[in-house]
Amino acid sequence: MAATLILYKSEYYLFLNSVDYFITPMLFTIVTFNCPKIKEEQHMDSAVKKGATRRDFLYLTAGAMGAVGVGSAAWPLIDSMNPAADTLAMASTDVDISKVPVGQAIIAVWRGAPVFIRHRTPDEIASVRKDNEWETLRDPQKDEDRVTKAEWIILKGVCTHLGCIPLGTKPGQPRGDFNGWFCPCHGSHYDVSGRVRKGPAPKNLHVPEYKFVTDTLVRIG
Ligand code: FES
Repeated sequence: MAATLILYKSEYYLFLNSVDYFITPMLFTIVTFNCPKIKEEQHMDSAVKKGATRRDFLYLTAGAMGAVGVGSAAWPLIDSMNPAADTLAMASTDVDISKVPVGQAIIAVWRGAPVFIRHRTPDEIASVRKDNEWETLRDPQKDEDRVTKAEWIILKGVCTHLGCIPLGTKPGQPRGDFNGWFCPCHGSHYDVSGRVRKGPAPKNLHVPEYKFVTDTLVRIG
């Protein structure tokens, strides 16, 4: 009897131990895996982590693609800022002016821009050299300081307002109120020295660098 009790007791003890070591963790695991609340929390946690990871990945990818895109888009712009080979080749240009009659003008092309070359009459020269009239102009400049030879005015043919090409070089074109050039874009008037007299242009027509190689050959640039 006593031996039986001892045996029962030892089996009971073993049973309790097995509950402690195996059954309790097993039950806990089963409950944990099957509890809807816990599953929901785990799912949310995992979704948040996945979301963050995916979001980070998307940010990085978008950033990298954006950098590549900006680089690709910027390159043609940067590349276009380099002067073309034909433009470099035209750093200066020689123009034969022997066939330009007094009172007439021609348009040369220098660095892709028009250049007006006008053979002025004595009256035209006198009209832009009146006393100290130049001091009252919007962009005060003496005619004498804008020419090398009084009979030749050489100007970059680009309006200083917004860059249109003023009229007045070809025969029959309007020359504006001061017998020089007229920009029809917004109505700027330039005199025979290319100085702005009326309209929105803020500056006189630009005088490019030039020199007379001979009496009839001028080098622009
Ligand atoms: S561009 Fe010549 S007046 Fe505006």
